[in-house]
Amino acid sequence: MARITAGVSTSHVPAIGAAIDLGKTAAPYWVPVFAGYEYSKKWIAQQKPDVIVLVYNDHASAFSLDLVPTFAIGCAEEFRPADEGWGPRPVPIVKGHAKLAAHIAQSVIQDDFDLTIANRMDVDHGLTVPLSLLFGQPKQWPCLVIPLAVNVVLYPPPSGRRCYELGRAIRRAVESYDDDLDVQVWGTGGMSHQLQGPRAGLINRQFDNAFLDRIVNDPEGLSRKPHLDYVREAGSEGIELVMWLIMRGALNAKVTQKHRFYHVPASNTAVGHLVLENA
Ligand code: DHB
Ligand code: FE
Repeated sequence: MARITAGVSTSHVPAIGAAIDLGKTAAPYWVPVFAGYEYSKKWIAQQKPDVIVLVYNDHASAFSLDLVPTFAIGCAEEFRPADEGWGPRPVPIVKGHAKLAAHIAQSVIQDDFDLTIANRMDVDHGLTVPLSLLFGQPKQWPCLVIPLAVNVVLYPPPSGRRCYELGRAIRRAVESYDDDLDVQVWGTGGMSHQLQGPRAGLINRQFDNAFLDRIVNDPEGLSRKPHLDYVREAGSEGIELVMWLIMRGALNAKVTQKHRFYHVPASNTAVGHLVLENA
C-alpha cells in the first residue's frame, strides 16, 4: 500500500531559483534564506520519498488567461521546466508517476472533486524552486513528482476549506493505491506578499506567524478562514497560502513539527517553511 509519510510547505520565490542557478547563494542577502533549508536537505536525504505530490500554482506559464483550471493534476511521464521569459531554468526535467497520478485523478474525481487532467504541462518556478531548495542541484531529481496546479492567480481562488478537503481526498486516493510507495505532499507559495498596486511590498509578520502556528495545531479552524482575509491581511499574492492547506489536509490531525523557518525578505516575499511528519 502507498502511504503519506510527511508534508513540506515552502515559499516558491523565483529570485531564489535565480540565486541558485547563478551561483549567488553565498551572497550576504541570501545566506539567511538558504540557512533555513539546511535541516530540510538532510532530512529529505534520509526520508527518500518515492513520490511527491507537489501542490503549486502556475504563474501564466502553462496556462494563459484563455484557460484557467481551478485544480489540474499532471498525469504525464515528464514535465519540462517552463520558459518564464529568461529561458527555462537549468534544472532537470521533472519525472512524473503517470500511473499513480491517473489513480489519484480517478479516486478524487469520483470523490466529487473536479480535477483537470493535464497530459502535457510545463512547470514554472512555483514547482521547481521548492525542488531546488530541498534537493539542491542534482543531475536528476531523486524522486518522482506529481504536479498539482491550483489557480490562485485569476479570481476566484478555491476556498481554504475546499483545499483542505482536497488534501483529505488525495490521502484517501494514495492509501487505496496498491504499490508500496512513500508519498509526500508539498504545499508551496506565500507567505505574505503583494506584487502589484498601491500595497505592493506588503508583508505581515503577525499574520504569517499565526498561520504557521495554526496550520500545525489547528488546521480545521484555519481551513475556515475566508479568502478575503488572506487578501486583506497577507496581500493579493498571500492567497497562495491556501495551497498549504492541501498539504495539511493530507496529513494526520496530529503531526510532528520537525522544522519551522520564517524570514523576511526574499525578493518581495516573506519566506515560510515547515517540515511535518505524520505523528
Ligand atoms: C515573487 C514571489 C512569488 O511567489 C512569485 O510567484 C513571483 C514573485 C517575488 O517575491 O518577487
Ligand atoms: Fe507565486
